[in-house]
Amino acid sequence: MTAVRISDLALEFTGATTVRALDGVDLEVDAGSSVAIVGESGSGKSTLAAVIGRLQPRSARIVRGELEVDGIDVLGLGHEALRTYRRDTLAYIAQDPIGSLDPTMRIGAQLKLVLRSVGDDGSLPRQIELLESMRIADPGRVVRLFPHQISGGMAQRVAIAMAMCRRPKLLIADEPTAALDSQVREEVIRLLFTQAREQGTTILWLSHDLPAVARWCDEVAVMYAGRVVERGPAAAVLGSPVHPYARALAATDPSRARRGERLSSIPGSPPVLHGESEGCAFAARCAHRIDACDVIRPEPVPPRHSLCIRTAELVDADRRARLLPEEEVSA
Ligand SMILES: Nc1ncnc2c1ncn2[C@@H]1O[C@H](COP(=O)(O)OP(=O)(O)OP(=O)(O)O)[C@@H](O)[C@H]1O
Ligand SMILES: [Mg+2]
Repeated sequence: MTAVRISDLALEFTGATTVRALDGVDLEVDAGSSVAIVGESGSGKSTLAAVIGRLQPRSARIVRGELEVDGIDVLGLGHEALRTYRRDTLAYIAQDPIGSLDPTMRIGAQLKLVLRSVGDDGSLPRQIELLESMRIADPGRVVRLFPHQISGGMAQRVAIAMAMCRRPKLLIADEPTAALDSQVREEVIRLLFTQAREQGTTILWLSHDLPAVARWCDEVAVMYAGRVVERGPAAAVLGSPVHPYARALAATDPSRARRGERLSSIPGSPPVLHGESEGCAFAARCAHRIDACDVIRPEPVPPRHSLCIRTAELVDADRRARLLPEEEVSA
């Protein structure tokens, strides 16, 4: 069963200048799976996450496309249906854990509200039970504290507890651990994924942390300039990427570099689009660019829905490089 189906979704921010943040996104996510959305800053990850909950700002205009979550046509929902959809289907975990909690209410009072909204009595023992399920030590004390009195890691665990007790079908986590230090980060990710797997919740995880993505996610979708340029099993996309941008991105991942090897970074910066990209948006930075790349707008091709007109050639070259000794390939 498909949890999320997005086709050719385009969105622009209007204002003094128009910014096209999504330029024809195609994505399919299986129910119960975990999918990472990766890509440089500005590639459109957060905009995509927002539009899935119809939470984009008023200045955003949907240009075209379709968006279905759990069989629901999200873009067509009326006011009431949208509220129900947000309440029953979706949950978000934001980057700033403390900011996502209400600063004026004690943790216990916030847990009580969430528990009651799902038909629980929200009593103190239930609040404590919920915190214990998140492996929070001394929950009896924590319920009496205000958000500013707890650490970022603990606040994120509280936020996960509040999100998961609603048993969402889809959990969207926008860099949930970016603000945390590294040991806490691993614990929080483990908790998030364990809880989601137990409940069969689909996860969309927006992340810059490729090693963690490789460890935790089933699939990876690579975004560039408002499109998904490659998607597929995490090990395949990160281990043997096909699209030139995905190749460059995977090569910047420090965990792939051998000792003493220089880390490569992608020269140049991503474009800010003001309308539909005519050719390939990555062409200006691409090591494999040919003239046609500037004028042909790439459509997804196998394998991995790669948005590159040279995909077949590149895959073929990879295959030969692996099968033949180096001299024979260059000859
Ligand atoms: N409210 C807004 N008004 C105008 N432009 C915006 C707005 N929000 C985002 N953008 C632009 O849309 C594009 C995509 O931004 P988005 O925040 O979705 O990227 P991102 O992939 O989440 O980046 P990051 O990794 O930094 O979080 C960028 O060019 C950004 O400047
Ligand atoms: Mg973002």
